[in-house]
Amino acid sequence: MKRLSGKSALITGAARGIGYGFAGAFLAEGATVAIADINFDAAKQAAETLGDSAYAVQIDVSDQDSIDAAVAAVVDQTGKLDILVNNAALFDAAETVDITRASFDKLYAVNVAGTLFTMQAAAKQMIAQGHGGKIINMASQAGRRGESLVLVYCSTKAAVISMTQSAGLNLIKHGINVNAIAPGVVDGEHWEHVDAMFAKLEGKKPGQKKAEVAAGVPAGRFAVPEDLNGMAVFLASPDSNYIVSQTYNVDGGQWMS
Ligand SMILES: NC(=O)c1ccc[n+]([C@@H]2O[C@H](COP(=O)([O-])OP(=O)(O)OC[C@H]3O[C@@H](n4cnc5c(N)ncnc54)[C@H](O)[C@@H]3O)[C@@H](O)[C@H]2O)c1
Repeated sequence: MKRLSGKSALITGAARGIGYGFAGAFLAEGATVAIADINFDAAKQAAETLGDSAYAVQIDVSDQDSIDAAVAAVVDQTGKLDILVNNAALFDAAETVDITRASFDKLYAVNVAGTLFTMQAAAKQMIAQGHGGKIINMASQAGRRGESLVLVYCSTKAAVISMTQSAGLNLIKHGINVNAIAPGVVDGEHWEHVDAMFAKLEGKKPGQKKAEVAAGVPAGRFAVPEDLNGMAVFLASPDSNYIVSQTYNVDGGQWMS
């Protein structure tokens, strides 16, 4: 028996990277999956590649109307919403004295407000359905402690961990499990962007920051998105029914908490 048979899932930021990996894993477990992304063309292409049970949905998680429309589109397509993965996020890095209001506002709009209000819209739908649900928020090891050049992003991910705790406590009475995953470093376009930023900020050669970071991971390498799939499927499945408000590190041993 597949673990997510008959379930309707919505994954934000699923056109590429970790969210795309989760979509493949959820589909393999029998779910129908909305590939929701601000980049609608990429979402459509991803859904086409993933097969018949995947479909593209446009979402900008920093815009309330767009969140509401995306949840409505999922309900139109499948009649319900059982699983939300709040995966869309932005990254930035700067010296503390160089952080701009624009960068702060953008990251908080997507990573914090986007996570909160997409979680809220999904929870309203799940409560109306009356069968509970699963919400998985993407945190990060960056939410466990600060990093010298990453003040804003780290603080948004700390907020995700905290919101997961409060929402989990509040929503479990409706049978909705809210939990989070804190990855370490995961290979993909996100990290190409991070490496390029550090090259500029720290005067490193392209690829140097990635190599240094990889050398510090106890497991000896970056993760690939597939390394996170087991935890995501578990938290989306009935196996996690008694798990509430937790953030799980999937980081090759970098963090213990
Ligand atoms: N890659 C890593 O090393 C790493 C480590 C820890 C945590 N994470 C977290 O995991 C999640 C996925 O990371 P990734 O590496 O796959 O990222 P990514 O940058 O490769 O993909 C993010 C996706 O989100 C979409 N997106 C951006 N803004 C959006 C918006 N406003 N509304 C909807 N979609 C939007 C992008 O178009 C993109 O498809 C993020 O929450 C990230 O913070 C990543």
